[in-house]
This record gives sequence, C-alpha cells and structure tokens, in this order.
Amino acid sequence: MKDKIKVGIIGTGSISQLHIGAYKKLKDVEVVAACDVNAQRVKEYARKYEIPNVFTDYKELLKMKEIDAVSVTTWNNFHAPISIDALKAGKNVLCEKPLALNATEAEEMVETSKKTGKLLMVGFVRRFGENAKILKQSVDQGELGKVYYAKTGVIRRWGNPGGWFSDKKRSGGGPIIDLGVHVIDLVRFLTGKPNAISVTASVFNRVGMKPEIKGINKYYPSDYSEYNDVEDAATALIKFDNGMTLFFEASWVMHVKEDHLYLSLYGDKAGAQMEPTIEYYEEKNGYFTNVNPLIDPTSYGFVHNFEEEIKHFIDCVKGGVTCLNPAEDGLAIMKILDAIYESGETGHEVIIKRKG
Ligand SMILES: NC(=O)c1ccc[n+]([C@@H]2O[C@H](COP(=O)([O-])OP(=O)(O)OC[C@H]3O[C@@H](n4cnc5c(N)ncnc54)[C@H](O)[C@@H]3O)[C@@H](O)[C@H]2O)c1
Repeated sequence: MKDKIKVGIIGTGSISQLHIGAYKKLKDVEVVAACDVNAQRVKEYARKYEIPNVFTDYKELLKMKEIDAVSVTTWNNFHAPISIDALKAGKNVLCEKPLALNATEAEEMVETSKKTGKLLMVGFVRRFGENAKILKQSVDQGELGKVYYAKTGVIRRWGNPGGWFSDKKRSGGGPIIDLGVHVIDLVRFLTGKPNAISVTASVFNRVGMKPEIKGINKYYPSDYSEYNDVEDAATALIKFDNGMTLFFEASWVMHVKEDHLYLSLYGDKAGAQMEPTIEYYEEKNGYFTNVNPLIDPTSYGFVHNFEEEIKHFIDCVKGGVTCLNPAEDGLAIMKILDAIYESGETGHEVIIKRKG
C-alpha cells in the first residue's frame, strides 16, 4: 500500500465540510479531487481546501486512476448510482446515510461491493460517539440482561429543512429517512444487529412545512426551496427476530412543546438511555439505583464523530481492519424504512421477509 491514500469528495455541500475537515487531520490522506454539479460551489470548496482537481461530472472524477477512495455526500438519490459507479471504477466508498432511497437500490450497492471486492461503508456516524461505545460495551457484556424493549425518537417542532430534503424524488422521504435512519440504526447496532421482522406504522402529513413561522430558527440547506411532498411526522412499532420491540417516532414539524431526542433500552437486568444523556437504571443492594457515567461532551459531538468515522474508513481502506459500518447494515435499515412507509400507506402491518 502506498504512503498516502488519495481521496475524492463527490458533493461539496454542508456535510462534506465535516468529511474534508476529518480527512485533513490525517497525515496519510491527500484529498486530490472534488466534484459537485454546482460549479461555483465546488470551485470555492477546492480553493478553500487546496484541492487540485475539480469536476462537475462525477464520472470524470472516477476516471482518475490515482484515487483510492471517495466520500459520497450528495443528495440521497445519487448515493446508489455514484457509489455503484465508484465501486466498479475500483474505488472504496464511504457513502452518507441513508445508504439509498430504498432497499432495492441498497441491495444492488451491496451486491456491487461484493462483486468488485471494494469496500462500501455507510455513514452511520453516531456509532462513533463515546456514548454509543459505552452503552454498546454494557449491552455486549450482558449488564442490561436481555434487552426486550427500546424506545427512540427525534422530535422537531419546526425543522423541515426544505430544498432537496423535502423533495421526495431526491430525498426518498422526510423525517423517517433523514432522522429515523440514525436512531433506528443505533438501537439495532447497540443490541447486536437483530433483523426486523415486522413493522406497524403511521406516517403523517397533517401540518406541512409551515415556512411562514416567525421568531425561531432552523437549518436551511445550500439550495433552499419551499417545495414539500414528504411526511411531517411518523410513529412505528418494529419487532425484531431476537424478541425485541422498538417504539420509534420522528417529526420535522409537530405541535409539541419543544424539540427532543431520546433513546432508551430496557433489559431484564437493567435499563439505560443513550439520549439525551447517558444513564443506567440498575438494582444495587435492594435499591433501584441510577448511574451516570461522566464523559466529555466533545467525545460524542458532531466533529469528533466524523473524525472517528473517517479515520476508521481510511484504516479499512489501508486494510487489516474489519469495517464497523458495512453496507449490509445500511441495507438492513432501508428494509425497515421501506416497511414504515408501506405500513403508513396501507394501514397494515408489514412483514419483512428474509432471503433464503
Ligand atoms: N451523517 C449525518 O449526520 C448527516 C448530516 C447531514 C447530512 N447528511 C447526508 O449528507 C448528504 C448531503 O447532505 P447535505 O446536508 O450536505 O446537503 P447539501 O445540499 O448541503 O449538499 C449536497 C451537495 O451535493 C451536490 N450534488 C447533488 N447531486 C450531485 C451529483 N450527482 N454529483 C455531484 N454533486 C451533487 C449538491 O449540488 C450539493 O452541493 C445527504 O445524503 C444527507 O442525508 C448526513
């Protein structure tokens, strides 16, 4: 393996700033190319981060033989075609979440990775936080006993970002695919990656985007527009093949007092929550006891998590390391998200079938 891993970044919007920030910290990495369909944006990005090769067509970037690996940080609808072309061009790929628009696309991505023998890693960045690591260790060591119930939710009172996020053909959906993907993955990851077997969901579009709201702020993407054809909230009950049931909810817009994020696991020996803070609910000497591990908040912040994720990706590209975020995990989540949308549409429970 050569001294430096050469990287290309495809999609130079908001989240690519965290990717390049993390790559720039690694001495054995050189970001040699960037691509965006927005010529002005990619030119500015390349100037800011001193990237020598600039493209507006990703296929041209993929022709660069020296590139070992790419980050795919485009709108969701380009995750599958770009990743597949990149794998076929012999590149290792770190693809942002969600892996694809749906499980059918995700399946093709996984197959292509297998056929080409190139790495396809999915950007489940929250797995790299210290809070996730601590809790996973506890679950793995049996400290909670058998986890039979979990609850997670990401609730925003006013948080539809607009632009491509709220355009279903580019995003695949609203808060389910944007926010649900992270927290459903976390529960599955923390509890040993069980497979979902059934989903009963309600998917709402009752409040809309509410662009007229004043007095509070929200995130706006680079290319904001008020086009909106996605759900504004959803709730689901997901059952897994290890006997665990997960209650999930998410919203971009809902008449709720305040935003909140939560993730709790309930075991027959102890309970724990990872969000909003890490805590354990145990029994000690006949008393119910709460335990609060003390961890530095920067060790599970956005920047830290991206730095750890990208470092791990590069370690995998160099070889000898098992990938913590294989594309198969992205596919498992897409099957759950597809089932949530299907159950919301039909009003019925959806059974998730397994191959073979
Ligand atoms: N891991 C996380 O926590 C996290 C957070 C935010 C966003 N994301 C994901 O990152 C991705 C990008 O989100 P964002 O917020 O940066 O959006 P963004 O709109 O700011 O950036 C996306 C960029 O991709 C470019 N693009 C679109 N199609 C392209 C193509 N075919 N070729 C080249 N460039 C193309 C757009 O012009 C834009 O500059 C999404 O998949 C999103 O889900 C992940």
